Amino acid sequence: MGDPHPAAGSRVLVTGGAGFIGGHVARRLADLGADVTVLDSLRAYGFDSAKRFGVDEVAKVIEGDVTDPETTFPLVAAADVVVHAAAVADVAACAEEPELDFSSMRATQTVLEAARNHAPDRLVLTSSAQVYGARPVNGGRFSEDDAPGEPGTLYANSKRWGEAQAGLYAESFGLPVTTLRYFSVYGPHQVPKPGSHSWAAALFSVRALRGLPLVVHGDGAQVRDQVNVHDVARATVEALFTSEAIGATINVGTGRATSIMELARAVARVVPGTRITYGPRPEGDPDGAAADTRRMVDLLGVSADTDLEEGLAEYVSWVGENMDLIPASL
Ligand SMILES: NC(=O)c1ccc[n+]([C@@H]2O[C@H](COP(=O)([O-])OP(=O)(O)OC[C@H]3O[C@@H](n4cnc5c(N)ncnc54)[C@H](O)[C@@H]3O)[C@@H](O)[C@H]2O)c1
Repeated sequence: MGDPHPAAGSRVLVTGGAGFIGGHVARRLADLGADVTVLDSLRAYGFDSAKRFGVDEVAKVIEGDVTDPETTFPLVAAADVVVHAAAVADVAACAEEPELDFSSMRATQTVLEAARNHAPDRLVLTSSAQVYGARPVNGGRFSEDDAPGEPGTLYANSKRWGEAQAGLYAESFGLPVTTLRYFSVYGPHQVPKPGSHSWAAALFSVRALRGLPLVVHGDGAQVRDQVNVHDVARATVEALFTSEAIGATINVGTGRATSIMELARAVARVVPGTRITYGPRPEGDPDGAAADTRRMVDLLGVSADTDLEEGLAEYVSWVGENMDLIPASL
């Protein structure tokens, strides 16, 4: 037997822990022997995601709003380390209702203030590859040292603001922050939100299972770095306990660029008989790029190497068993 993982016995708060990614982080932490508390409003989906994703079996779930200091401060005070994964993680909803997006900024501010007051050993912030913006990268990779692009969306702007604010808190108050930039995450518990265009792997899988054609926008040459949620959870947990990661901003992706056309073909192989059609490319749809993953590998010792087709097969099987959760409008 090797040494126990540093998560064993530690008290961890996961905001947004009843959501897609936070739920996997909570489960991984619990598997490693951590004492996990989840703070979640349970408002992202029209069902009790803590129950349906089994989070209530591995964590103490507190239903509440992160923006409320009376809820958040004592929970941060009682934690050794904190993952802040609560956000309105829906680009389209944020565009339609800017106040919703602003509530994510308010939630981040509340967590930063709570951390300033109660000094946890680590705060992991969940940001997004969207901060790189829509600029062309000429087939290259998005590196953490690249200057951020124009935000382009309210969601990207609030993510950028969160990163900058956390950086200033780290500088001014010595807060031990690690910022993760997730790329295009997919896997079990991903429930596409109505009107959302961001989750191609999930949308394609759901349409394929419903016997509908996959609609590739434009020629499908635009790329995304499709990273499996189990790998994302591993990277997030390591970020909580690796001292070299303090102060770092770290991409979480595979390092592989998958074109939307390749993704559609992979889904069609997993769900035989699926047809692929073409539609116009929405305005502002970025060309995309893969993550430069050297920092993730070097600092966290994690490589996101789940095979895409195996990961899609696991997701398709989960959707097949949970079709009642998927909005009929998709
Ligand atoms: N899914 C992706 O591909 C992706 C990519 C990049 C970044 N991210 C980021 O990862 C994090 C988790 O995203 P996700 O995909 O799991 O989304 P999700 O919507 O499944 O999870 C977010 C959870 O936060 C909760 N929440 C939102 N605002 C809250 C508040 N004010 N108080 C309490 N709970 C609140 C929601 O109820 C939800 O359960 C977010 O910060 C998101 O921006 C996700």
